[in-house]
Amino acid sequence: MLRDSDVLSTLLRRKPDHSLAQDLYCDAGVFDADMAHIWYRDWLFSIPTCEIPKAGNYVVHEVGVYSVIIVRGADGEIRAFHNSCRHRGSLLCTAKKGTGPKLVCPYHQWTYELDGRLLWARDMGPEFDASAHGLRSVHCRNVSGMVYICLAEIAPPIEEFVAETARYLAPHDLENSKVAHESTIIEKGNWKLVWENNRECYHCAGNHPSLCRTFPEDPRAIGNDDSGQMAGLQESHTQRCEAAGAPRGYSISGLGDWRFVRTPLLDKAESYTMDGKVAVTKPNSSLPFRDAGALLKFKYPGTWNHFLSDHVILFRVTPIGPMETEVTTKWLVHKDAVEGRDYDLKRLTEVWIATNDEDREVVENNQRGILSPAYSPGPYSPTHEGGNLQFVDWYASTLIRAITGGPARMAAE
Ligand code: FES
Ligand SMILES: [Fe+2]
Repeated sequence: MLRDSDVLSTLLRRKPDHSLAQDLYCDAGVFDADMAHIWYRDWLFSIPTCEIPKAGNYVVHEVGVYSVIIVRGADGEIRAFHNSCRHRGSLLCTAKKGTGPKLVCPYHQWTYELDGRLLWARDMGPEFDASAHGLRSVHCRNVSGMVYICLAEIAPPIEEFVAETARYLAPHDLENSKVAHESTIIEKGNWKLVWENNRECYHCAGNHPSLCRTFPEDPRAIGNDDSGQMAGLQESHTQRCEAAGAPRGYSISGLGDWRFVRTPLLDKAESYTMDGKVAVTKPNSSLPFRDAGALLKFKYPGTWNHFLSDHVILFRVTPIGPMETEVTTKWLVHKDAVEGRDYDLKRLTEVWIATNDEDREVVENNQRGILSPAYSPGPYSPTHEGGNLQFVDWYASTLIRAITGGPARMAAE
């Protein structure tokens, strides 16, 4: 089991333009370092705001050793609290989601307001100060209809991401949406393998027959050559979308932890359906045409998203163990869209349910192959796997910076 100093030297010895060393995908100490230095420090996507539309609605989000309650208050604000009672520490919310006028501990019924204040605690004596025993809060931001949390004491800056998200998501109305379906799968692979698989479409033609009906695998179209160049491929598409309020092209943060890119789908396809036509006839975007393509977004380490003209798909990644990762997918449609009239659930979800399962299989095969003593880091395709290189560079520089406490260094340089 590697210690932080071993993790650091493994990262500093990284072979440029190659996949990572075996330990970085398997080792329990690396997993602990990833959790401590990345997952417990960065902003993580939790839920769409529309999932808790009413006061008292809550969802529990578990990340490693933490359990967090995301709850909407009587004032409409969404807040996040550690799911640990201030009496003797019991879990407060034992269900994954629910609704209640107050948060009541199941152990001795200490009762908290939805804003975290302790309201009632039986027989605690005259000296007891309820105001000193409110729930411990977790950093929480509503970013254009997506709730992000940060478990760190001091959260890293998020304002640039908030502003860029507002710009890109302006045509997509997440607040007036609803979750039409959600699925959670467990992939027996390291969380970085889940991301690496996401960041390239080199594997698409060989593995995703349904998705490839509509999704372009051309790395220049989906920003996966990491050049930032859209190669003029979709200039007319981009101009048309921009005129309708959807910002152009490619935007990536200085640290490389988030990116937006709008790409057309194949052959003027409208959505990720088997026939390429929209899945929802009552769209949750203001885009005036159906073939607006997909706005692809990622925010490391926890989420990637697809924003289409008719619906939105949000993916959330959570590491469970060194070789186990949870992937939750939520399909968002307009809140007034009626199943059976405005959309058919199977038609809406079948392409990505199949694609997720195909991705699970390739990730699990990847993990099992990496466990072989014969594994050594292999070269990324310069044409198709620029996204992988971008991801591992982000990962290595983030971890090096966190472990050393110094400025980011690109180990691949
Ligand atoms: S631990 Fe919650 S009321 Fe006792
Ligand atoms: Fe895939």
